Amino acid sequence: MSRARFLGTGFAVPDRVVTNDDLSALMDTSDEWIRTRTGIQERRWVREGETGAGLADQAARRALEAAGLEPGELDAIVYATSTPDHFAPGNGVYLQRLLGVGGIPSIDIRNQCSGFIYALSVADAFIRCGQFRRVLVVGAELQSTGMDVSTRGRNTAVIFADGAGAVVLGPGNDERGLLAFDLHGDGTYAEKLWVDAPGSMYHPRVSHEQIEAGRHFLDMDGKEVFRHAVARMPESVLAVLAATGQTPADLRLLVAHQANLRITEMIQRTLQLRDDQVYNNIMRYGNTTAASIPIALDECVRAGRVRAGDLVALTAFGSGFLWGSALVRW
Ligand code: UT7
Repeated sequence: MSRARFLGTGFAVPDRVVTNDDLSALMDTSDEWIRTRTGIQERRWVREGETGAGLADQAARRALEAAGLEPGELDAIVYATSTPDHFAPGNGVYLQRLLGVGGIPSIDIRNQCSGFIYALSVADAFIRCGQFRRVLVVGAELQSTGMDVSTRGRNTAVIFADGAGAVVLGPGNDERGLLAFDLHGDGTYAEKLWVDAPGSMYHPRVSHEQIEAGRHFLDMDGKEVFRHAVARMPESVLAVLAATGQTPADLRLLVAHQANLRITEMIQRTLQLRDDQVYNNIMRYGNTTAASIPIALDECVRAGRVRAGDLVALTAFGSGFLWGSALVRW
């Protein structure tokens, strides 16, 4: 069995920058509140007509270029998003169409902020068992189109944003690659961070009443999510390290889901990591859900913060609740 290795990374974000002051013009909030409570200074939101699959296409092409591969050399796509362009089909086939690689399998993962970690684990399993060799793994979101930009929605609208990240995985022939996964879920908390409608349990799937009540917007109990996030992510990082007989001191880099700068700082303190062992870019992109880890990873790779042989941990927590980590020998 061959361990799955990262062959290339890439990301894409919309060119429309939305600052905290831009949001203050729409709702009762302030640059000071957003910076101190979340660390976010600006984020990217799509313009009308841009799609999640379109952003994923740009990110995927950059990852393929970094890997030195053509789209036609891919064997499968695993696409994580909680915000598909349509209710059905999922975004994987739209990306496939844009890449011009009809015929290969495409799998959609609906695991929100943890979607990229889960998608990696699926791709890793395919590669290890020899079913597919080169797998494109994408985390992409368009959150801005599901935000309530009035004061009613301010606890989510200032946080969530748009973007796409992609990696190409392939079989390795040495010790480098994905070493361990730790995956969890607890549906007890499903309604703590969710989008109620549209839903197939409703006839029709979305009604005027639901829209008036704002039940089609992302809804979050921020304090409850925060409380669990700061406990579960460090636990999960320690689990993947323990599975391979290592400790936080062995990490070159931790890339945590960019949910809130305060959350990442608490994870850093719990794991007793130095500043140079932790990467944050939430200041510039906000919380891009399934896209945040692959976006951060690509920035680290291109800036030389991750080099061959480095030990890297990826961790996420979010809606579900779902959480988990991956440990990589880069
Ligand atoms: O992606 C993975 C899942 N998501 C997360 O991990 C996010 C986790 N949660 C959080 O990051 C934080 O809970 C938030 C940033 C969402 C909120 O921060 P908080 O420190 O927990 O604030 P809070 O919700 O307790 O609200 C404090 C006050 C409230 O006013 P009162 O009741 O004290 O008068 C809110 O109404 O801040 C108010 N508030 C705002 N004020 C200005 C909430 N949102 C805003 C806002 N601007 N955008």
